[in-house]
Amino acid sequence: EIFNDSNYASVLVAHEIAELIKQRQQEGRPCVLGLATGSSPIKVYEELVNLHKKGELSFYNVITFNLDEYYPMEPENRQSYYYFMHQHLFDHVDINPENVNIPSGEVPQEELDQYCIDYDLKIKQLGGLDFQLLGIGRTGHIGFNEPGSHKNSGTRIITLDHVTRRDAASDFNGIEYVPKKAITMGVSTIMKAKRIIMLAWGHKKASIVKETIEGQITSNIPATFLQNHDNTTMIMDNEAASEL
Ligand code: GLP
Repeated sequence: EIFNDSNYASVLVAHEIAELIKQRQQEGRPCVLGLATGSSPIKVYEELVNLHKKGELSFYNVITFNLDEYYPMEPENRQSYYYFMHQHLFDHVDINPENVNIPSGEVPQEELDQYCIDYDLKIKQLGGLDFQLLGIGRTGHIGFNEPGSHKNSGTRIITLDHVTRRDAASDFNGIEYVPKKAITMGVSTIMKAKRIIMLAWGHKKASIVKETIEGQITSNIPATFLQNHDNTTMIMDNEAASEL
């Protein structure tokens, strides 16, 4: 779906998420959300906060799982995804902190494998993700599933692509300060979500959006795996859609 205005599109996405949360509340069930960082979802979170402040939406039944985190990374670091999520969403809504799951960039190396297995297990035990919000990296990564990620991959530690680190360089005041690794939810974890919305804004995303939608399905561009998901919508603005 192509929109003239990314702010308007973001509001619509936030409203879809809000409706899902409320539907689950009526059913007396938790709502399990997979959340993304980066600039793309910021307006979505802003609208969710707005709805909460207007008294129209509570997060009491919401359980969240974030896609990824740099490794190593301390949560109090301003570049951490922990910091980002609290700044843009969690500090402004009534979510129970115990229901917030963000991969920890502080897990000792020898415990990482088990930590990642447990992250997936926790999602599974809750019945899977009801909804997954995604951005897209210029390498075609979803979460931090860089080129080469297998479609059956679970949550794990990965090495960041050079393009990804270059794109993050301005946040870290130089590429040399961008961590070389990250923990990411796996492709298969993401693909099991019952509903997926991917956001793409601006010219910088135009060529990878074309590859993702029109290209062959390949682990070289992990976002192409979404072509096989039966309930995914890509939401983009005119610039991101300009090469379609
Ligand atoms: C990072 C995140 C991704 C995100 C991507 C795009 O690499 N790990 O989840 O989709 O950035 O970021 P932006 O939305 O700022 O373009």
